[in-house]
Amino acid sequence: MALESLALRRPDDWHVHLRDGDMLAAVAPWTARQFARAIVMPNLDPPVTSVAAAAGYRARILGALAPDSGFEPLMTCYLTDQADPDEIERGFREHVWVAAKLYPANATTNSALGVTDIANIYPALERMQACRMVLCVHGEVTVPQVDVFDREAVFVERVLARLVRDLPELRIVLEHITTQEAADFVEHAGPNIAATITPQHLHLNRNALFAGGLRPHAYCLPVVKRERHRQAVRAAATSGSPKFFLGTDSAPHPRHAKESACGCAGIFNAPFALESYATVFEEEGAIDRLEGFASEHGARFYGIELNQGTIVLDRVDVEVPERITTGGIELVPFHAGQRLGWRLAAE
Ligand code: DOR
Ligand code: ZN
Repeated sequence: MALESLALRRPDDWHVHLRDGDMLAAVAPWTARQFARAIVMPNLDPPVTSVAAAAGYRARILGALAPDSGFEPLMTCYLTDQADPDEIERGFREHVWVAAKLYPANATTNSALGVTDIANIYPALERMQACRMVLCVHGEVTVPQVDVFDREAVFVERVLARLVRDLPELRIVLEHITTQEAADFVEHAGPNIAATITPQHLHLNRNALFAGGLRPHAYCLPVVKRERHRQAVRAAATSGSPKFFLGTDSAPHPRHAKESACGCAGIFNAPFALESYATVFEEEGAIDRLEGFASEHGARFYGIELNQGTIVLDRVDVEVPERITTGGIELVPFHAGQRLGWRLAAE
């Protein structure tokens, strides 16, 4: 008999964009409803590069939530060419941030101040290796000669492989993997290398970008790939390997900024993230592995205690709305207008 409900240890989101100001107020409650903790990306404008900026941002996130939400934001530091090893270590030792994020310059939203050459941040990375701080990586090269669909595979081959060779003990999370090459690299690397996987890269292949017309709400970075890559990423997520864990990369942009002649990259998947992942795990016959992926592997990799308490997913259809409007901001959620077969039970 099919399961009627599924209880899981309270899960975490190991990669999310919560933004700031009115957008923060609009989106943070969605993440806090689904997850106990989340790794919060630092690509604000200006980016979060100092301990003081991260502490201030953390306070604004908590201020956007109900006092009893129980949600814990896990902050990150944005690496620039000028990254200061002392400042990075201080934020880590003072428990202000748990990781630093490498954005190759101009790879994605608010990455103009990212790293132009990885050699520039070797002093910072060596310090992080010494203090066992995690490096989160946006793994795409940005040279114009490389096809946008190949940017991740080329990054793995040219940049990540060298990084792992030069800094063999550095703890690295390759974020939002989209390719067979990335999944294979992580699977065969040492235990200090892991990856997060988003719902969209499990559900969509690149046909989704052009299904009946140009589809801005399927556009994120790294861009969705061919079907064989989607299958490889699904296999990795549902394999039970502790190297792969949940990171939504929920990245809200207002509807008008997505539906534009130059639409922003990012998919707002926070409202139905667990329902979306559960659908995939069930389709793959791996629903018993969802708890490891969502609630255990990430915390173990980061060396953080597992959450107490449980959430329940009921096998009840849920209709994903076409739009979610909060505080005057209109957002189009992932799976808009579709029906999913699981629903997160209210507490
Ligand atoms: O699609 C994306 N959106 N990918 C990223 O790497 C950044 C994110 C954003 O901040 O909008
Ligand atoms: Zn992201």
